Amino acid sequence: MARKGKEAVKEATEALLEEQRVFRPLPEVVVEANVSPKEYQEAIEKGLTDLEGFWEEAAEELDWFKKWDKVLDESNAPFYKWFTGAKCNITYNAVDRHIKTHRKNKVAIIWQGEPPNEKKKLTYYELYRRVNKFANVLKSLGLKKGDRVAIYMPNLLETAIAMLGCAKLGVIHTLVYAGFSALALRERVNDAKAKVIVTADGLYRNGKIINLKETVDEAMIECPSVEHVIVVQRTGQPIDMSDGRYLWWHDLMEGVSDECEPEILDSEHPLFILYTSGTTGKPKGILHVHGGYMVGINRTLRWVFDLKETDIYWCAADVGWITGHSYIVYGPLICGGTTVMYEGHPLYPKPDRMWQIIDKFGINILYTAPTTIRMLMRFGSELPRRYSLKTLRLLGTVGEPINPEAWMWYYQNVGRERCPIMDTWWQTETGMFMIAPLPLSLLKPGSATKPFPGIHADVVDKEGKPVPVGKGGFLIVKKPWPSMLRTLWGDPERYVKQYWDVIPGGVYTTGDVARKDEDGYFWIQGRADDVMNIAGHRIGTAEVESAFVAHPAVAEAACIGVPDPVKGEVAKVFVILKKGYEPNDELDKELRQHVRKELGPIVIIKSIQFVESLPKTRSGKIMRRVLKAQELGMDPGDLTTLAD
Ligand code: PRX
Repeated sequence: MARKGKEAVKEATEALLEEQRVFRPLPEVVVEANVSPKEYQEAIEKGLTDLEGFWEEAAEELDWFKKWDKVLDESNAPFYKWFTGAKCNITYNAVDRHIKTHRKNKVAIIWQGEPPNEKKKLTYYELYRRVNKFANVLKSLGLKKGDRVAIYMPNLLETAIAMLGCAKLGVIHTLVYAGFSALALRERVNDAKAKVIVTADGLYRNGKIINLKETVDEAMIECPSVEHVIVVQRTGQPIDMSDGRYLWWHDLMEGVSDECEPEILDSEHPLFILYTSGTTGKPKGILHVHGGYMVGINRTLRWVFDLKETDIYWCAADVGWITGHSYIVYGPLICGGTTVMYEGHPLYPKPDRMWQIIDKFGINILYTAPTTIRMLMRFGSELPRRYSLKTLRLLGTVGEPINPEAWMWYYQNVGRERCPIMDTWWQTETGMFMIAPLPLSLLKPGSATKPFPGIHADVVDKEGKPVPVGKGGFLIVKKPWPSMLRTLWGDPERYVKQYWDVIPGGVYTTGDVARKDEDGYFWIQGRADDVMNIAGHRIGTAEVESAFVAHPAVAEAACIGVPDPVKGEVAKVFVILKKGYEPNDELDKELRQHVRKELGPIVIIKSIQFVESLPKTRSGKIMRRVLKAQELGMDPGDLTTLAD
């Protein structure tokens, strides 16, 4: 077991270290790209010498009700403000402004249901009308600027409409991934004090119907702030709507006016809260705002993914994560593009589903995650080879480091050695791509290449000193950027402590470790803290541990991430049982079920090991590092603080 882990790590490390292949973009890709090599060079220069000028120029591409007095306000760092004095609304930019142009009848969203025969297309004008109606529904329920709405939905058109409708009024939305459990939903709804939950009766996942409404019912046992639950009828199975707080989406939308003026908002007005895992059991509510966020995602999408008016663009993520917010909904709509939203599982009904969708809609840009690529690789290259995929121009990946083998498979079998791969490094906190190539870049498989213009990223030691070329260190960002998080909802102290007080010099700590090579390329190596990355989902080991100890049989638990060939990482948990409990298969099964209930199916537990004791520091802190080293057969490092 340990041998296997050790070998896997050695292999992966060697593969990364030996990775020296460089891929040049095809001349036609460079010539046709939105940004020329000269413009790119100038942008890099400007990002270094005139940061505010660079972002001001980017902001000019959007519509503002009133322009800013100041581009960047650093007076209360690290609570940075961007475009202060400006008035705007992101929904106005994503929807309203397009209906005054030739885009009025252009398809804004192509929605593909999991059942293959279900698809819908929505033009900008239709989207505009529905967003207005939904905003009016919220108004009729008494919602006002600054109130919170939780959206617990799969990838449906209504999900995008709900997000845009909230933003139109200055109502703050918080999406909760539909795979999260009732307890996780409740925790987020209560932290945000949401007045409304928008959900669906059910969702399709891998051919099965999952009843979402039931999960909401369970969460609602203790959600005192919630006044109404709006339910979209998606799967149509009978559900109990007798509770007066539950209202059907379709009833509410009927007969409502399709006109609604956008709220004129301060640039810094909150847009959404998105919860993500940290190193404690309590998720962090990342707060993003209207102005800077739209500037960042517009510029990065146009430049990195080269999004064009004529493109059909598919980001195969879930709207419940930041990728879905920035690059399924807001980004592509702001750019006036056509965004594809797929409801279901990538392998349903067969493992060629993704290739089939690409050919069906003539997709030009595909953005997915390394874990999905590795999963698809298992079915062999014959499957994508059966499809033309000729419309593809550009590919993207996100969520975790992509191993060169998966990169090559994607490049050869999907992109047919014609499409450059944009490996985009970013986070829920950053809102937009931070380290990523442009179509003109030289690519090295496994590297996210270089920081985007205006992003001052570096790799440093814990004192903040840059580490030598080729050496690992902490990935940091030295200057603010417009789509950065503004704070943690309700916890500004944790915001400062977690991101700005870690490494000296007033720099933003990403929590990742990385190295830079001799060409200045960044190689992300993973998390520096106790956060796992399971299939591209961030899950704190502390969250898993607290779920375990919530079970009556468990006295103590320690969780570590261990490598997995498809998921990237999975959890292994060491458990000390309370007196009177015996370790056995039944308890193992029960614990797994319990954790699934507490946290949802996204936590993949490889194994549970029942132990008598755990390695701890003298002050009683569990040394996960020691467990991990033991598991993977590596050097555990300094053991002087180990108690026993
Ligand atoms: O560890 C990095 C990894 O995912 C983390 C951010 O997770 P989350 O906030 O959930 O956002 C994921 C989608 C943006 C990072 O701290 N990560 C993300 N993209 C990459 C990556 N690691 C390596 N390469 C990437 N391209």
